[in-house]
Amino acid sequence: MPEVVLKANDLVKHYPVKAGVLRRTVGQVKAVDGVSFELYKGETLGIVGESGCGKSTLGRLLMRLEEPTAGTVEFEGQDWTAASGRTMRKLRRDIQIVFQDPYTSLNPRMTVADIIGEPFEIHPDVVPKGGRRARVQELLELVGLNPEHINRYPHQFSGGQRQRIGIARGIALNPKVLICDEPVSALDVSVQAQVVNLMEKLQDELGLAYVFIAHDLSVVRHISDRVGVMYLGKLAEIGEEDEVYSRPTHPYTQALLSAVPVPDPTLRGKRDQIVLQGDVPSPANPPSGCRFHTRCWKAQDVCKTDEPQLELRADGTGEHPSACHFAEPRQVVETTDVSGLAPDTRFATPDVADVGDENPAGTGVTEDERRLDDTTTESDHLR
Ligand SMILES: Nc1ncnc2c1ncn2[C@@H]1O[C@H](COP(=O)(O)OP(=O)(O)OP(=O)(O)O)[C@@H](O)[C@H]1O
Ligand code: SF4
Ligand SMILES: [Mg+2]
Repeated sequence: MPEVVLKANDLVKHYPVKAGVLRRTVGQVKAVDGVSFELYKGETLGIVGESGCGKSTLGRLLMRLEEPTAGTVEFEGQDWTAASGRTMRKLRRDIQIVFQDPYTSLNPRMTVADIIGEPFEIHPDVVPKGGRRARVQELLELVGLNPEHINRYPHQFSGGQRQRIGIARGIALNPKVLICDEPVSALDVSVQAQVVNLMEKLQDELGLAYVFIAHDLSVVRHISDRVGVMYLGKLAEIGEEDEVYSRPTHPYTQALLSAVPVPDPTLRGKRDQIVLQGDVPSPANPPSGCRFHTRCWKAQDVCKTDEPQLELRADGTGEHPSACHFAEPRQVVETTDVSGLAPDTRFATPDVADVGDENPAGTGVTEDERRLDDTTTESDHLR
C-alpha cells in the first residue's frame, strides 16, 4: 500500500452571503462541500474543474490558510486542522504552496534573496543564519536560475522565471507536500512545459507530493498520477490518470474531456462532442440530489432526489470512484498512455533549465511598475 501523506476528511467550506444595511447573513456559498481524498507520498494528484468549483478554496484549506467549516486534514496521520503552537509550525514547514500568478505572488520590493530566504526567518532552525545565502543560491540553481541573480528584483525576470522563484520559495523548507494552485496557467505554453518539467524533476529528486490544481486538462494529465474532477464543491470522479482520461464514467468528466482543445498530441484523435446545456448553477444554491442533474443528458428522476456517493464503480476494465447513479465508461477522446514517457518527451520544449527571456535591465515593464504599487502579495499571507 502506498504511504498516505495528506488526507482530506469530508472537508467543507461555506462562506456567508451577507445582504442589506445590517449585513445579515442570507445564505451560504458552498465553495467546498464534503471533499475526501488521500494524497500518497511522492505522487501528483491533479484537481480539475470549471472556474468557481472550489479548487482554490480546497487548496487553501489543505494549506490551512483558511479554517474549514467542517471536516479535517490529516498530515502523516496527525490532525493538521486542530494543530496549534509548535506542532502547527512544524506542519507549516511540511506543507507549502505555489500560487498561480508569478506577478502578484512575489513582493516587488524584495530581492530574490529575501523572497526565497524569507521562510528561513520564520523557521530559523532550518538553515543557520550564515548559511542562508548559499542555500538560496543552491535553490536558484535547483530551479534552473542563475545563482548570480540573487540580488535582483522580481520585475527583472520573465513570467516563467518568476514562477521558478515561487517554486524555489515553496521548496526552501524541504516540504513533503506542495500545493500548486494553477502554477502554470499564467504562462505561455512553451514556458508552461519548462515549468512542468522542472516540477517533475524536483519531485523525482526531492520525493515531494503535489496537489496540482488546474483547469487545463492536458497539463494535469501530463503531470498527474491520479486526477480528481470537481463540480460545484464536490468530487465527481477520482482515479488514476488513465482511468479518468481513458475510461471516465461520470458524465461531467466526459463532457470536460470532450471540450479539451486538440493540439495536445496525447489527446489527438476521434472525439465525441458533448455540449452541456445551461450554465454552472450557483454554489449558493446547488441543485438537489446530484448537483450535475440540471446539465446532465442522462439525468433521471432519482438524480433529482438522491445524491450519488463517490464510490467504486465499474469502468470497463476495473473500477474507480465516481459519484453517478448511472456511471458507465465512455471513451471521449483517444488517448495515448504517456505515463511511461520521460517528462521532456511529452513536450515540445525539453529544457528543464531556464532559457527564458530575462529582462536584466528591468526596462519596458510598465505592467510591473503598476504592480510595484501593490504592497500586499499573496505570499504575505504566509508570514
Ligand atoms: N472569501 C470568499 N468569500 C466568499 N465566497 C468565496 C470566497 N472565496 C471563494 N468564494 C466562492 O467560492 C466558490 C469557489 O471559489 P474558488 O476560488 O475556490 O474556485 P476555483 O475553482 O478556484 O475557480 P477558478 O478556476 O476561477 O480559480 C466561488 O463561487 C467563489 O465565488
Ligand atoms: S447521477 Fe444522474 S444526473 Fe448525476 S451525473 Fe449521474 S446520471 Fe447525471
Ligand atoms: Mg482558483
